Amino acid sequence: MRAFLPSQPRFSLPRSAFLQLYADDAPSCAWVAEQGRELAGAVFGHSWGRIGWIGPLAVSPRHQRRGVGGRLYRAAVQGLNESGCTIIGLDAEDHAGINGFYQRMALPYSVATLDGCKAVMPGPLDLDDLLIFSRSQSARFSTEWTALQRTLAPAVDLLPYVQRLHQHGFGESAVVMQKRSAKALLILQTGQRLANDQVAAARLQVCWLAPGMEKRALFSAVERLLRVCHPACRFLYLRTTEDAGDWLTEGRCRVIHRGRRWATRPSALSADRQIWFWE
Ligand SMILES: CC(C)(COP(=O)(O)OP(=O)(O)OC[C@H]1O[C@@H](n2cnc3c(N)ncnc32)[C@H](O)[C@@H]1OP(=O)(O)O)[C@@H](O)C(=O)NCCC(=O)NCCS
Repeated sequence: MRAFLPSQPRFSLPRSAFLQLYADDAPSCAWVAEQGRELAGAVFGHSWGRIGWIGPLAVSPRHQRRGVGGRLYRAAVQGLNESGCTIIGLDAEDHAGINGFYQRMALPYSVATLDGCKAVMPGPLDLDDLLIFSRSQSARFSTEWTALQRTLAPAVDLLPYVQRLHQHGFGESAVVMQKRSAKALLILQTGQRLANDQVAAARLQVCWLAPGMEKRALFSAVERLLRVCHPACRFLYLRTTEDAGDWLTEGRCRVIHRGRRWATRPSALSADRQIWFWE
């Protein structure tokens, strides 16, 4: 795998298209701050049922430390609360200034996060009945997804977000089946619009495992999905919390970046090691 990594791209999302997705998903969380006719900052958010995520949040350097970031943050929280979110989380860089800001914003819980990357190897294209794709079998996908989601995390409703991703051409979400029963839910962000300048990449944004599903088997399913849907994809990215670093070991991923996740309640930090999010 190392042979692939020197040319590893710095992963970047197509920002304007992605921000449009967030603005559609949670319009009451999308705010800009203007000073005169100048853009001073902006915030976006999205929601998964009772869990709301904030980000990106940014203030231009010449407007920082004047209260703009705090006002944007509070406006986004209010929008998420009004749409029913009771838990707020966000991912950020891990450095003193940003940590100081989120402590001040009264986000009491935080954990370290790790970003990993692995090369997607060429391999067989057989797909039998292991995976159910959201697009090719949409009715069964919704039924299986909803049933497993209710069992694993009743507070979270990801289906509207998944459907939004598909509308915007970002997603290849799947229910992974083993022996005719649903064993994992995953949201894979892929597609032309996620292509890096030189090398196509994908990111595993959400992954939930039912008891008995091995992480290694999950990675094998993801790679098979990529080979079929996005044969040009060379790299898979994922993020996990540091205490669930076995995801990276099991997936044979290299750690490429460290960050910090903040939340209003510890459950939003995915203490359940069978579930993790990239935000
Ligand atoms: C983090 C960020 C949004 C803060 O915006 P801001 O407008 O400067 O924040 P505010 O002026 O509202 O700060 C509120 C409080 O947070 C704390 N704070 C903010 N920036 C800080 C810093 N660099 N160091 C220490 N404390 C800081 C302070 O307590 C501050 O109050 P004070 O100025 O009265 O001391 C801004 O620095 C930024 O855009 N950074 C780059 C992008 C980024 O990292 N975004 C976060 C990742 S999602």
